[in-house]
Amino acid sequence: MTIPFDPENRIQLHDLRFLPSISAQEVQTRVHALGAALQNSLSDDTPLFISVLSGSFIFTADLVRAFEHPCEITFVKLTSYAGTQSTGDVQTVMGLEKDISGRHLVVVEDIVDTGRTLHFFLEQLWAQQPASVTTVGFLRKPDAAKFSVKIDLVGFDIEDNFVVGYGLDYNGLGRNLKGIYVLEPTTHQ
Ligand code: IMP
Repeated sequence: MTIPFDPENRIQLHDLRFLPSISAQEVQTRVHALGAALQNSLSDDTPLFISVLSGSFIFTADLVRAFEHPCEITFVKLTSYAGTQSTGDVQTVMGLEKDISGRHLVVVEDIVDTGRTLHFFLEQLWAQQPASVTTVGFLRKPDAAKFSVKIDLVGFDIEDNFVVGYGLDYNGLGRNLKGIYVLEPTTHQ
């Protein structure tokens, strides 16, 4: 994945090159702060974390370990992206398996881009009458927002550019990178 002797530490995934943007250390520091903030607001309950797959799997794993209090974790899989573009259509590949009525929920998203995925999913959740819903987005692109969704906790606000790493992929690659990398402008086609 690394280009040998590249002074800018770029990486290549398929046909595209990416530049380092948020370091692994910055990611870990921020995720621990998010876990502590959740612990302060939800420590009287046993919240149910809902991890929105696929991109949230690493963020969720770190976030719940930074939440040092009893909690449950479940997963849904929603897709809306093909390559570096949103398809404009949210598909439920794997739905909720848990009864969420009366539960305190923490929805964990990897990245909030247009907000379409979260908007669609929150409508489904509220219809099942949970006690509360806290939304957490590791990354958010404020300039790309098209749907109004309230994100209670945000890891990092970033520019409207395609990124990979820390669970996020480009056509399957890049999820295992420890930091965040941004698409190099000149290689974007
Ligand atoms: P939204 O529905 O437009 O908010 O997009 C949310 C989903 O699109 C995320 O959960 C990701 O799976 C995907 N996505 C959006 N932006 C990026 C990106 O920059 N890199 C990788 N995936 C992205």
